[in-house]
Amino acid sequence: MSKFYITTPIYYVNSTPHIGHSYTNIAADALARLHRQSGDDVYFLTGTDEHGQKIAKAASEAGLSEKDFTDKMVAIFLKLWDVLCISYDDFIRTTEERHTSTVKNVLSILYDRKDLYLGKYEGWYCAPCETFWTDGQAQGESCPDCKRPLERIKEDNYFLRLSKYQPWLIDHIKSHPGFIRPLSRYNEVLSFITNNKLNDLCISRPRSRISWGIDIPFSPGHVTYVWFDALINYISAIGFTHDETKFRKYWPADLHLIGKDILRQHAIYWPIILKALDLEPPKMIFAHGWWMVGADKMSKSLGNVTDPLKLAQEHGIDAYRYFLLRDVPFGLDGNFSDEAIIKRKNDDLANDLGNLVHRTATMIEKYFSGKLPDCKALEPGKLKSDSDQLFGEVKAAMDAVDFTLSLDKVWSVVNQANKFIEDTKPWVLLRENKTQELASFSLLLVRAIKAISEALCSFMPLTSKSIREQYSAPLIKKGFPLFPRIENVH
Ligand code: MSP
Repeated sequence: MSKFYITTPIYYVNSTPHIGHSYTNIAADALARLHRQSGDDVYFLTGTDEHGQKIAKAASEAGLSEKDFTDKMVAIFLKLWDVLCISYDDFIRTTEERHTSTVKNVLSILYDRKDLYLGKYEGWYCAPCETFWTDGQAQGESCPDCKRPLERIKEDNYFLRLSKYQPWLIDHIKSHPGFIRPLSRYNEVLSFITNNKLNDLCISRPRSRISWGIDIPFSPGHVTYVWFDALINYISAIGFTHDETKFRKYWPADLHLIGKDILRQHAIYWPIILKALDLEPPKMIFAHGWWMVGADKMSKSLGNVTDPLKLAQEHGIDAYRYFLLRDVPFGLDGNFSDEAIIKRKNDDLANDLGNLVHRTATMIEKYFSGKLPDCKALEPGKLKSDSDQLFGEVKAAMDAVDFTLSLDKVWSVVNQANKFIEDTKPWVLLRENKTQELASFSLLLVRAIKAISEALCSFMPLTSKSIREQYSAPLIKKGFPLFPRIENVH
């Protein structure tokens, strides 16, 4: 048994979650479930990022204190994760004492080691993105990410010596080709860091400008910059500076799943913070793509978001999970539309999987009154359905964080099983009274369906459970179709 520590980004609570947020959590959940199924000791962490100007502003607009506002928003995230069957082991809020005290400890360690120093900060700041930009990065006076106006800022702040660790990071990235994935992102970071000199990172804000943050222990006039605070969640949750045994058990993280827009913070700042603390970097950072609507990123600020709760209620939780993980190769951008979900649901779920499960149970009920006959004369070879093999193939694809390939493997068995029914023509066997053949045919199908349900467990936990229950019962009954077709598709 090995340990598997997997994390998602911690989400800003200034607005309600949308598809993009649910995407990372569903992907992380599928991986966490698969590792548990393989017997690993899994620690799956998600949570919320609650400090900074953006949250303080949203709270004041809602007429609430920061505490009341964040509590209210966190409840919305928790409900969504519950509905979507997100099996996290820990949920960290950056306002919790276990986190704030760790951040302060980290700051003190780095200050004592002289990796933090007080300097002059001058540059551009994007309040909605909580991000600082240099003159070279800013697009005129606009944010290069969200295109909104930037503020010009000049102040005394603390800096982390990123530049000191740049040669180490270049070496680390070069000698660990799997550190950043997919390959396009690895190349992007490596080329950036080999061709640019890193500026030291400004990690504080004057309290006079931002008060909703964690105090810098050695400087009462400053609070911690929200990104520095946020990244530390990955070690505060597992006990850094508090619970050494737990921390040693789970660190380094096996996988940080993130969206491509927060790659710089994770692949450059974070490994350097860890190195300065004498801690190992995470084993892998995987940056997925964006869900787009037409040519735009789906985002609250662009006003084009769809509520994941509504989608899951409308299409079913598992169909929603399946769609997100199957439709677009992880790492690439994808276009979101209702038509695309409905098509996946009708083709892959209703026609292929649902139909296989339903017609097989119907046949067993009809031919054998629901009781599978004792039968040794199986003819393997006609239907490749070895359950160990399918699960192993899915696991190998998941080790490469390739959800589409994993699901392709499952659907190849689904399609083979449907074809097996067409080719075998059980209705002819029945007419010709070939009971023995009919029995072995049914057993092979049941074996395939059980393998499919086992392989789908991490992606579609509810469907997998319902198939397992239906096919493990002493009497197999046809039941209701798992995925009724949606007819009014244009
Ligand atoms: N709080 C920071 C993360 C700190 S992690 C130490 C943050 N929060 S966020 O709520 O703005 O975004 C969280 C994640 O959602 C990011 O990984 C981002 O890429 C992802 N998504 C936001 N919109 C998205 C899409 N339209 N599509 C896919 N994911 C996107 O950044």
